[in-house]
Amino acid sequence: MKTIRDFDLLGKKVIIRVDFNVPIKEGKILDDNRIVMSLSTIKYAINQGAKVILMSHLGKIKNSEDLEKNSLKIVGQRLSEYLEKNVVFVPVTHGKELKDIVDSLKNGEILLMENTRFEDLDGKKESGCDEDLSKEWASLGDIFINDAFATAHRKHASNVGIAKYLPSGVGFLMEKEVEAMEVLMKGEHPFIVILGGAKVEDKIATIRHIIEKCDYLLIGGGMAFTFLKAKGLEVGKSIVDSENLSFAKEMLERYPNKIILPMDVVVAEEMKEDVSTFIVDIEKMKKELMGLDIGPKSVVNYSKYLENAKTLFWNGPMGVYEMKNFQNGTKGLLEEVTKRGNTLYSILGGGDIVAAATLLGYKDKITHASTGGGAILEYMEGKSLPGIEAIRGQN
Ligand code: 3PG
Repeated sequence: MKTIRDFDLLGKKVIIRVDFNVPIKEGKILDDNRIVMSLSTIKYAINQGAKVILMSHLGKIKNSEDLEKNSLKIVGQRLSEYLEKNVVFVPVTHGKELKDIVDSLKNGEILLMENTRFEDLDGKKESGCDEDLSKEWASLGDIFINDAFATAHRKHASNVGIAKYLPSGVGFLMEKEVEAMEVLMKGEHPFIVILGGAKVEDKIATIRHIIEKCDYLLIGGGMAFTFLKAKGLEVGKSIVDSENLSFAKEMLERYPNKIILPMDVVVAEEMKEDVSTFIVDIEKMKKELMGLDIGPKSVVNYSKYLENAKTLFWNGPMGVYEMKNFQNGTKGLLEEVTKRGNTLYSILGGGDIVAAATLLGYKDKITHASTGGGAILEYMEGKSLPGIEAIRGQN
């Protein structure tokens, strides 16, 4: 697969598809990790004298009310701060104004086009990988670089469509992510998977695929309670994905020795930072309480599985890590994982666990903190990712 290094970028118009789909609330970017992770490719292109055209989606655009809150304008401002350089923001996604600004770019200059999904208002042209839109976007550049790993599971005009019409390669972020996925797929044993987060629904296909490959699947977070309930245990007011109890039951019956569940949990009457908390063994759960983190015995038990592990894939936190009283489970396991240094190849996948590792100060000690959420889960389901295949197909 070609990478950005394989092209002579000097004076070329280089379209770089990044994933700037970052969480934004009330006009503020809550987590800019994806912007930071895209910097090395962008800086390289600028330093090589390319005219850089950045494209990304942000959120979902279903009607005109979604437009304003999903504008990439503030992302452009943040990017400009990181690059210490002007980033020309183009508020449109097609047409003469865009083309004229692209044509006026000088070597080493950079522009960010408005959210590619604004084109979804016009018959889902971006998400539906519309041929004409793909051609129009491709006509703006000489070279296409896809660095949007987190969008690789989508077949959009801006990541798959353009690649058909331009010499294409991947950026440094995509290259690093693909390498990490390849290590995961080889999964040197013992291969441990940790899954957390609230919903079982989103992880069913991943669980079905990965359970065959890994040695142990350690479950925490809200989804643990669906499995505990499926075992017939009282889970009180804890979150339960009732629709998927039968799936949890089936998995526990088929893989009784592979699926490891919490032995104790941190409970409270409600999910609040200043509320009193208790630790209870899982058999002693009370009806009026809810579990919000895995307990210390579970951390010790899960750590035993990590002791000799060679490969780890971790998606989803063990508790409500944003609140101090429910973050010890996630923190304890992050400590255990990072203690292993280079002897454990650890991959964190998904926004929440990466955000938790960042907040708790462990992100830089992990082998690879992926920018992908849905993309990594689909990869772990054994699916190929269209965004990557579109580039591979060219070489
Ligand atoms: C993500 O955050 O998983 C990617 O940016 C893809 O976004 P989407 O789920 O809205 O397609």
